[in-house]
Amino acid sequence: MAQKIVAANWKMNKTIPESHSFCVELAKKLLKISHTEVILCPPFTSLFHIKDPLQKTTVALGGQNMHYELSGAYTGEISAPMLKSAACQYVILGHSERRHIFGESDKLIKKKIDTALSNQLQPIICIGEKIDERKAEQTTQVIQAQLRSALENITQEQATRCIIAYEPVWAIGTGLTASPPQASEAHQFIRDFIGQQYNQETADQIPVLYGGSVKEANADKLIIADEIDGFLVGGASLEVDHFVAIINTVEAYLKKQE
Ligand code: PGA
Repeated sequence: MAQKIVAANWKMNKTIPESHSFCVELAKKLLKISHTEVILCPPFTSLFHIKDPLQKTTVALGGQNMHYELSGAYTGEISAPMLKSAACQYVILGHSERRHIFGESDKLIKKKIDTALSNQLQPIICIGEKIDERKAEQTTQVIQAQLRSALENITQEQATRCIIAYEPVWAIGTGLTASPPQASEAHQFIRDFIGQQYNQETADQIPVLYGGSVKEANADKLIIADEIDGFLVGGASLEVDHFVAIINTVEAYLKKQE
């Protein structure tokens, strides 16, 4: 079974003081979490400053994006070594906002994935279809193409360091959530595809997260659905209590499985 993960994607929210006080609160409330990997992906400016309040927790840090080059004349960009020096273990790549607002292509995202893997950062690779693609019954073709590009020439060992986040674009920040069967179907497709590329053991090891309007009210139904290994949470991760409630839901589910 893949590890269960709850990752927060704060997007362009929270100043350094806001991030710091969130993490002070979070550290107090997360004391009993032992089964779930919690990952926080704040804005770059906050990364270094939240290390301290999180010191006694197991919360890991991730960047929200990264350039594929390691350094150079790329104004406004952040590199893998920079993220690592700010204590990141993870980096979100291919988020739908990067794909659709900033025009990132599969090819560009692929270069970033390769750089992350060769620099010991675990990529959280986001894939997902737009509403017109779902209506045209192209969901599996779209996610297969994104996944095929992302995993091209990636070894089995590298694949086991990847995390996939299935995030239907129509569910992100809209309040619409994929139903548990809709999410399970996509996750099963993703796992089968990985199984065909590598083998079943590798496919079972790679966490496949769901993202898109996850909140306390739907997390319990989604986490028990087949093939869902956790969540990538946007809006609901901005409030400590809402975020902790989602983590507690996953934690409670895991304790029940023991
Ligand atoms: P949301 O965002 O939870 O606000 O829908 C999820 C994401 O964009 O990763």
